[in-house]
Amino acid sequence: MNSITILGIESSCDDTSASVIRDGVLLSNVIASQAVHASFGGVVPELASRAHQLNIIPVVHEALKRAGIEKSELTGIAFTRGPGLLGSLLVGTSFAKGFAQALNIPLLDVNHLQAHVLAHFISEGKLDERQPEFPFLCLLVSGGNSQIVLVKAYDDMEVMGQTIDDAAGEAFDKCAKVMGLPYPGGPQIDRLAQEGNSKAFTFNKPQIHDYNYSFSGLKTSFLYLLRNRVKENPNFVAENLSDLCASIQATVVEILMSKLRKAALELNIRHVAVAGGVSANSSLRQAFQDDGKKLGWEIYIPPFAFTTDNAAMIAITGYFKYQHNDFCSVEKVPFSRVKNKF
Ligand code: KG4
Repeated sequence: MNSITILGIESSCDDTSASVIRDGVLLSNVIASQAVHASFGGVVPELASRAHQLNIIPVVHEALKRAGIEKSELTGIAFTRGPGLLGSLLVGTSFAKGFAQALNIPLLDVNHLQAHVLAHFISEGKLDERQPEFPFLCLLVSGGNSQIVLVKAYDDMEVMGQTIDDAAGEAFDKCAKVMGLPYPGGPQIDRLAQEGNSKAFTFNKPQIHDYNYSFSGLKTSFLYLLRNRVKENPNFVAENLSDLCASIQATVVEILMSKLRKAALELNIRHVAVAGGVSANSSLRQAFQDDGKKLGWEIYIPPFAFTTDNAAMIAITGYFKYQHNDFCSVEKVPFSRVKNKF
């Protein structure tokens, strides 16, 4: 059988990434992050598009070089079609279309959220690798999404529950911002929480039905706590920083895990995975280990490199699609919004 060699391209937000995967095994994964947004406290869409324009060719060039292959060896090109920032997506999409046409190879359009879930199938050629069995549940938590996904096959995923307002990553980032921490705040909170007492402050948890999430109330009660305490003591945040971080982190993790436990129990699923940028969080990873042991789950936690945005997850999704002749025509355009069914 001939090898299938896929170039993946990711440009949905503020990371320009390219990756080569051959027969499911990772050959390279290059990511250029954009420092330009740091001073704005969040991603500025126009600046992101411009940085993608500058980065895309060098990043693809480097990915091919590190993979040790010539462009003529590629058999398909996978690109993130959405959801994401439209201007950013257009850069990756246009590049992928042009490159695929020039090489006369098929194009594969990839849903970014589906790719986060399928990141679990990237092989790095190690002996102790485990991959989830279908069906499995995936807690997909990123800066823009918090979802519980029932994964029945690579191309059959159902969103069982999702946030009705803010995403978990957004809650981390916004709480970090009001404490004066730099963007993105999630990793900062994670780091500072290591030294803190997670029971120092308590916050109300949302009472909502089904498998849905809500984080906007938590964000507001965090803001009010800070406002009230700062009135009494202007140094309140600095003096309690690690306790605040540990407490808000523990609350977000418990909200995420309680709905996941409910879904796993009611749907009778034992294989449970986590994906997306927030899955880098150490407390969430620990909660997965603990609940997995207690409840008899087989758990799947991705390597750090595949938690935040990366093109390896786009390439592996393209690899699955290639095997099923699930190609895309050059007329397909990017989309910015989330779809319920992947
Ligand atoms: O998946 P991702 O890279 O981008 C998209 O949103 O698509 O996720 C980024 C989010 C940000 O909100 C960031 O603060 C959060 O993931 N994040 C973390 C950690 N690392 C990244 N949140 C909590 N703890 C972390 N260690």
